[in-house]
Amino acid sequence: MPRIKLHVAQWGYKEILLSLRLFITGRSILGNYQGKLSHFLSKAYDLNHATFLNSARAGIYFSLLAMKEKKIDANEVIIPQYICQSVIDIIESAGLKVVKAKVGEDLLLDISSVEASICKQTLAVLMVHMYGKIADIDTLSSLCKKRSVFLIDDAAQTAGEYHEGKTLGTFGDSGVISFSQSKTITTGVKASGGILLCNNKNLQPRLTQLTSNLEHSVSRLPAFVHFVMYFLLQGVWRKLDYYISRISTKLKNKRKDYYSPITNISNLDAAIALLQYKKLTENKKNIINSLVYYKKLIGEFKSISAPQLCLENSFLTRLVLRSHVISPDNLATYLNQRGIITRFAYQSGSKPYNGSPDSGLLEIPLVGVSIDEINFIASTIVEAEKELA
Ligand SMILES: Cc1ncc(COP(=O)(O)O)c(C=O)c1O
Repeated sequence: MPRIKLHVAQWGYKEILLSLRLFITGRSILGNYQGKLSHFLSKAYDLNHATFLNSARAGIYFSLLAMKEKKIDANEVIIPQYICQSVIDIIESAGLKVVKAKVGEDLLLDISSVEASICKQTLAVLMVHMYGKIADIDTLSSLCKKRSVFLIDDAAQTAGEYHEGKTLGTFGDSGVISFSQSKTITTGVKASGGILLCNNKNLQPRLTQLTSNLEHSVSRLPAFVHFVMYFLLQGVWRKLDYYISRISTKLKNKRKDYYSPITNISNLDAAIALLQYKKLTENKKNIINSLVYYKKLIGEFKSISAPQLCLENSFLTRLVLRSHVISPDNLATYLNQRGIITRFAYQSGSKPYNGSPDSGLLEIPLVGVSIDEINFIASTIVEAEKELA
């Protein structure tokens, strides 16, 4: 039976060799790759005031602290209703309240819902380019300007993407990019790097102050091993990783929470990010080829759609399907039994469709799949519709 993995990164032997070299030579934490990455990005992407951290959420956190000092009476942050829990957690840990605005069918912020949610207490709007689909930047930027609220350009999932010739992440007062799993640039899982960008002269001095004395990254080895076993190798390695984690929990040596403390990016993550940025065009080409092929086949589905896949957009980092009739649970089991690995979407997404665009979703393999595999996935979904719908 075919086993089609759901890859979260396009890693080849170069990433593995580079990582091993840095671990063996004791340069996984400190070294000269942060400088090299910064130099490369400033030339290739015109990133203003880029600060390299160990996660994108750290960038959101510092942005909010700096914004709050400028607008002390405001304590609400508007985010899309469809988003990962970690973003909600980091906003709350900054002492702020999350206000969820509706998303449209394509899982991007619904402008009228944002407009209706803005009030005196609104500090900022988090503009997310969900799974690589670009948000309505122009409308959200002018809305935020008009209503005097800050805009955070959350390009966590879309490193290296552009809108009208300008790099995503650089549109708001501040912006973030992430290097963790399932991003265009992936250096590992858990606090494996991110960038904080700043476009607002009034925030920049405070952001520099907040980020200038951070600790160096903690050991990357456990997170690296976890990433390789759980996300790259998968299969029995994933099971082994699970047992290792259980044993270490039993030994009261719980896996470290790699997100705290917030640190600078490690030399290892900067090195892999640099390698991945250099391969980005090639990696994106592979994904676009798969998307073009998927587009043709998804037209054959009766009750299942790919809400972000439309004619205009050429690139996505992940591919989610939406079924109004088959629950994500049942579809996942059906595909899994036929050797296709899927992944549930964020909390609301993994619930059966309930009339809201952020429900009834299931992610299918996109990264690193062959045309034969796409054919097999699509025909299996057609069968699933016949049997389950
Ligand atoms: C939209 C969005 N913003 C922010 C983040 C946080 O990124 P990081 O894991 O680097 O903190 C994520 C993580 O998946 C995300 O999807």
